[in-house]
Amino acid sequence: MYLIKMGGSVISDKKEYRTYRAHVVSEIARVLPQKDLLIVHGAGSFGHILADQFNITSGFEEWKRLGFSKIERDMQDLNLKVLSSLLEKDIPAVSMPPHAFMILGSKPDIKYFDYLLQYDFVPVTYGDAIFDMNLGINICSGDLLMLELARHFHPEKTVFLTDVDGIYDRPPDEEDTKLINILHRDITPHTETKVRDVTGGMEYKIEMMRKIAAYSKVYIINGFHPERLKAVLNNDEFIGTVIL
Ligand code: IPE
Repeated sequence: MYLIKMGGSVISDKKEYRTYRAHVVSEIARVLPQKDLLIVHGAGSFGHILADQFNITSGFEEWKRLGFSKIERDMQDLNLKVLSSLLEKDIPAVSMPPHAFMILGSKPDIKYFDYLLQYDFVPVTYGDAIFDMNLGINICSGDLLMLELARHFHPEKTVFLTDVDGIYDRPPDEEDTKLINILHRDITPHTETKVRDVTGGMEYKIEMMRKIAAYSKVYIINGFHPERLKAVLNNDEFIGTVIL
Protein backbone atom coordinates (compact mmCIF):
# COMPACT_ATOMS: atom_id res chain seq x y z
CA MET A 1 0.00 0.00 0.00
CA TYR A 2 1.10 3.54 -0.73
CA LEU A 3 0.41 6.67 1.30
CA ILE A 4 0.78 9.88 -0.69
CA LYS A 5 0.51 13.52 0.32
CA MET A 6 -0.08 16.15 -2.32
CA GLY A 7 1.34 19.27 -0.70
CA GLY A 8 -0.73 22.44 -0.69
CA SER A 9 1.97 24.34 -2.59
CA VAL A 10 1.76 21.78 -5.39
CA ILE A 11 -2.00 21.62 -5.82
CA SER A 12 -2.58 25.35 -5.27
CA ASP A 13 -0.75 28.61 -5.74
CA LYS A 14 0.09 29.32 -2.10
CA LYS A 15 0.09 33.10 -2.61
CA GLU A 16 -3.27 33.56 -4.35
CA TYR A 17 -6.39 32.81 -2.28
CA ARG A 18 -8.19 29.68 -3.54
CA THR A 19 -6.29 28.96 -6.76
CA TYR A 20 -6.47 25.29 -7.70
CA ARG A 21 -3.95 23.71 -10.08
CA ALA A 22 -6.24 21.24 -11.82
CA HIS A 23 -3.68 20.36 -14.47
CA VAL A 24 -0.98 19.49 -11.91
CA VAL A 25 -3.32 17.20 -9.95
CA SER A 26 -4.44 15.52 -13.19
CA GLU A 27 -0.85 14.80 -14.15
CA ILE A 28 -0.16 13.31 -10.71
CA ALA A 29 -3.37 11.23 -10.86
CA ARG A 30 -2.23 9.81 -14.18
CA VAL A 31 0.69 7.96 -12.54
CA LEU A 32 -1.16 6.83 -9.38
CA PRO A 33 -2.33 3.24 -8.89
CA GLN A 34 -6.13 2.81 -8.70
CA LYS A 35 -6.14 0.84 -5.44
CA ASP A 36 -4.09 0.10 -2.31
CA LEU A 37 -3.64 3.82 -2.04
CA LEU A 38 -4.30 6.44 0.64
CA ILE A 39 -4.23 10.10 -0.29
CA VAL A 40 -3.79 13.16 1.91
CA HIS A 41 -3.73 16.67 0.53
CA GLY A 42 -2.59 19.94 2.01
CA ALA A 43 -4.35 23.27 2.09
CA GLY A 44 -2.15 25.80 0.28
CA SER A 45 -4.07 29.00 -0.35
CA PHE A 46 -7.39 27.31 0.50
CA GLY A 47 -6.35 27.09 4.15
CA HIS A 48 -3.21 28.88 5.21
CA ILE A 49 -4.26 32.43 4.37
CA LEU A 50 -7.42 32.46 6.51
CA ALA A 51 -5.87 30.23 9.19
CA ASP A 52 -3.24 32.92 9.62
CA GLN A 53 -5.67 35.86 9.45
CA PHE A 54 -7.91 34.29 12.10
CA ASN A 55 -5.02 32.95 14.20
CA ILE A 56 -6.75 29.59 14.40
CA THR A 57 -3.76 27.75 15.92
CA SER A 58 -4.00 29.78 19.14
CA GLY A 59 -7.43 28.35 19.90
CA PHE A 60 -11.04 29.42 20.13
CA GLU A 61 -12.24 33.01 20.54
CA GLU A 62 -15.66 34.38 19.55
CA TRP A 63 -14.33 36.49 16.66
CA LYS A 64 -12.78 33.45 14.95
CA ARG A 65 -16.03 31.57 14.40
CA LEU A 66 -16.62 32.75 10.84
CA GLY A 67 -12.97 32.22 9.94
CA PHE A 68 -13.19 28.59 11.11
CA SER A 69 -16.35 28.07 9.04
CA LYS A 70 -14.82 29.63 5.95
CA ILE A 71 -11.70 27.45 6.17
CA GLU A 72 -13.86 24.32 6.46
CA ARG A 73 -15.92 25.52 3.50
CA ASP A 74 -12.82 26.29 1.41
CA MET A 75 -11.16 22.96 2.30
CA GLN A 76 -14.27 21.02 1.35
CA ASP A 77 -14.27 22.90 -1.92
CA LEU A 78 -10.59 22.06 -2.55
CA ASN A 79 -11.23 18.43 -1.57
CA LEU A 80 -14.09 18.23 -4.07
CA LYS A 81 -11.81 19.56 -6.80
CA VAL A 82 -9.14 16.98 -5.94
CA LEU A 83 -11.75 14.20 -5.89
CA SER A 84 -12.96 15.24 -9.33
CA SER A 85 -9.41 15.23 -10.74
CA LEU A 86 -8.85 11.73 -9.32
CA LEU A 87 -12.20 10.40 -10.56
CA GLU A 88 -11.43 11.67 -14.06
CA LYS A 89 -8.52 9.23 -14.02
CA ASP A 90 -10.79 6.40 -12.77
CA ILE A 91 -9.44 6.44 -9.22
CA PRO A 92 -12.36 5.51 -6.90
CA ALA A 93 -11.67 8.33 -4.43
CA VAL A 94 -13.85 8.86 -1.35
CA SER A 95 -13.61 11.93 0.85
CA MET A 96 -12.67 11.53 4.53
CA PRO A 97 -12.80 14.99 6.13
CA PRO A 98 -10.69 14.98 9.30
CA HIS A 99 -13.65 16.10 11.44
CA ALA A 100 -15.29 12.75 10.57
CA PHE A 101 -12.66 10.75 12.41
CA MET A 102 -10.58 12.91 14.70
CA ILE A 103 -10.42 15.57 17.39
CA LEU A 104 -6.95 16.86 18.22
CA GLY A 105 -5.75 15.51 21.55
CA SER A 106 -7.49 12.14 21.23
CA LYS A 107 -6.86 9.01 19.20
CA PRO A 108 -8.27 9.17 15.65
CA ASP A 109 -10.87 6.58 14.63
CA ILE A 110 -9.40 4.91 11.55
CA LYS A 111 -12.09 2.19 11.17
CA TYR A 112 -13.74 3.84 8.18
CA PHE A 113 -10.42 3.85 6.31
CA ASP A 114 -10.16 0.09 6.91
CA TYR A 115 -13.52 -0.41 5.24
CA LEU A 116 -12.74 1.82 2.28
CA LEU A 117 -9.48 -0.02 1.64
CA GLN A 118 -11.07 -3.43 2.10
CA TYR A 119 -13.43 -2.60 -0.79
CA ASP A 120 -10.65 -1.07 -2.92
CA PHE A 121 -11.72 2.54 -2.54
CA VAL A 122 -9.12 5.27 -2.25
CA PRO A 123 -9.66 7.42 0.89
CA VAL A 124 -8.77 11.07 0.49
CA THR A 125 -8.30 13.19 3.61
CA TYR A 126 -6.80 16.64 4.09
CA GLY A 127 -5.41 19.25 6.45
CA ASP A 128 -8.25 21.32 7.89
CA ALA A 129 -9.59 23.49 10.71
CA ILE A 130 -10.63 21.09 13.45
CA PHE A 131 -11.70 20.80 17.10
CA ASP A 132 -8.99 20.44 19.71
CA MET A 133 -9.62 19.02 23.21
CA ASN A 134 -7.38 21.63 24.81
CA LEU A 135 -7.64 24.72 22.60
CA GLY A 136 -11.23 24.41 21.38
CA ILE A 137 -10.26 24.91 17.74
CA ASN A 138 -6.99 24.41 15.91
CA ILE A 139 -5.50 23.38 12.57
CA CYS A 140 -4.86 19.74 11.78
CA SER A 141 -2.08 19.54 9.22
CA GLY A 142 -2.03 16.98 6.45
CA ASP A 143 1.37 15.97 7.81
CA LEU A 144 -0.11 14.90 11.15
CA LEU A 145 -2.73 12.88 9.25
CA MET A 146 0.13 11.26 7.32
CA LEU A 147 1.71 10.23 10.64
CA GLU A 148 -1.55 8.81 12.02
CA LEU A 149 -2.22 6.84 8.83
CA ALA A 150 1.37 5.58 8.56
CA ARG A 151 1.26 4.47 12.20
CA HIS A 152 -1.91 2.49 11.55
CA PHE A 153 -1.24 1.06 8.08
CA HIS A 154 2.57 0.75 7.84
CA PRO A 155 2.51 1.53 4.09
CA GLU A 156 5.22 0.09 1.89
CA LYS A 157 6.01 3.61 0.69
CA THR A 158 5.01 7.04 1.95
CA VAL A 159 5.48 9.89 -0.51
CA PHE A 160 5.38 13.64 0.07
CA LEU A 161 4.87 15.59 -3.14
CA THR A 162 6.28 19.08 -2.55
CA ASP A 163 7.22 22.13 -4.63
CA VAL A 164 10.96 21.45 -4.19
CA ASP A 165 13.13 18.50 -5.26
CA GLY A 166 13.53 17.02 -1.77
CA ILE A 167 15.34 17.86 1.47
CA TYR A 168 18.45 19.97 1.15
CA ASP A 169 21.52 19.99 3.39
CA ARG A 170 21.10 23.67 4.24
CA PRO A 171 18.39 26.38 4.12
CA PRO A 172 17.29 26.87 0.50
CA ASP A 173 18.18 30.59 0.47
CA GLU A 174 21.90 29.79 1.00
CA GLU A 175 24.30 29.14 -1.87
CA ASP A 176 25.57 25.72 -2.99
CA THR A 177 22.89 23.75 -1.22
CA LYS A 178 22.86 20.07 -2.07
CA LEU A 179 19.93 17.71 -2.31
CA ILE A 180 20.16 14.95 0.31
CA ASN A 181 19.45 11.66 -1.45
CA ILE A 182 19.33 9.43 1.60
CA LEU A 183 18.59 10.75 5.07
CA HIS A 184 18.71 8.63 8.18
CA ARG A 185 15.69 9.32 10.37
CA ASP A 186 17.84 9.96 13.46
CA ILE A 187 19.66 12.83 11.77
CA THR A 188 18.27 16.39 11.89
CA PRO A 189 19.10 18.28 8.69
CA HIS A 190 19.87 22.03 8.94
CA THR A 191 16.91 23.12 6.92
CA GLU A 192 15.47 25.92 9.06
CA THR A 193 13.87 28.57 6.93
CA LYS A 194 12.53 31.98 7.81
CA VAL A 195 9.28 31.14 6.09
CA ARG A 196 6.83 29.64 8.57
CA ASP A 197 3.31 28.64 7.79
CA VAL A 198 0.49 28.18 10.29
CA THR A 199 1.32 24.52 10.80
CA GLY A 200 5.00 25.15 11.59
CA GLY A 201 6.66 25.23 8.17
CA MET A 202 9.32 22.90 6.87
CA GLU A 203 10.81 21.99 10.25
CA TYR A 204 7.50 20.59 11.49
CA LYS A 205 7.01 18.72 8.22
CA ILE A 206 10.47 17.15 8.43
CA GLU A 207 9.85 16.17 12.05
CA MET A 208 6.65 14.37 10.96
CA MET A 209 8.47 12.71 8.04
CA ARG A 210 11.21 11.41 10.35
CA LYS A 211 8.59 9.98 12.72
CA ILE A 212 6.80 8.31 9.82
CA ALA A 213 10.08 6.72 8.75
CA ALA A 214 9.73 4.42 11.77
CA TYR A 215 6.76 2.79 10.00
CA SER A 216 7.44 3.20 6.28
CA LYS A 217 10.04 4.29 3.72
CA VAL A 218 9.47 8.03 3.26
CA TYR A 219 10.12 9.80 -0.05
CA ILE A 220 10.13 13.56 -0.60
CA ILE A 221 9.91 14.45 -4.26
CA ASN A 222 8.87 17.29 -6.54
CA GLY A 223 5.17 17.08 -7.35
CA PHE A 224 5.61 19.08 -10.54
CA HIS A 225 7.53 16.11 -12.02
CA PRO A 226 5.09 13.19 -11.86
CA GLU A 227 7.61 10.97 -13.67
CA ARG A 228 9.65 11.05 -10.44
CA LEU A 229 6.66 9.72 -8.53
CA LYS A 230 6.32 7.00 -11.15
CA ALA A 231 10.00 6.13 -10.70
CA VAL A 232 9.60 5.88 -6.92
CA LEU A 233 6.54 3.63 -7.24
CA ASN A 234 8.34 1.42 -9.80
CA ASN A 235 11.52 1.15 -7.69
CA ASP A 236 13.48 2.98 -10.42
CA GLU A 237 16.14 5.60 -9.84
CA PHE A 238 14.56 8.92 -8.88
CA ILE A 239 15.45 12.50 -8.05
CA GLY A 240 14.49 13.33 -4.46
CA THR A 241 15.12 12.31 -0.85
CA VAL A 242 14.37 9.04 0.85
CA ILE A 243 14.28 8.85 4.66
CA LEU A 244 15.18 5.43 6.03
C1 IPE B 1 -2.89 22.87 6.63
O1 IPE B 1 -2.54 21.59 6.17
C2 IPE B 1 -4.37 22.94 6.88
C3 IPE B 1 -4.90 24.34 6.94
C4 IPE B 1 -4.17 25.40 6.98
C5 IPE B 1 -6.34 24.48 6.94
P1 IPE B 1 -1.06 21.33 5.61
O2 IPE B 1 -0.06 21.97 6.53
O3 IPE B 1 -0.93 19.86 5.38
O4 IPE B 1 -1.10 22.09 4.22
P2 IPE B 1 0.09 22.44 3.21
O5 IPE B 1 0.47 21.19 2.51
O6 IPE B 1 1.24 22.99 4.04
O7 IPE B 1 -0.49 23.47 2.31
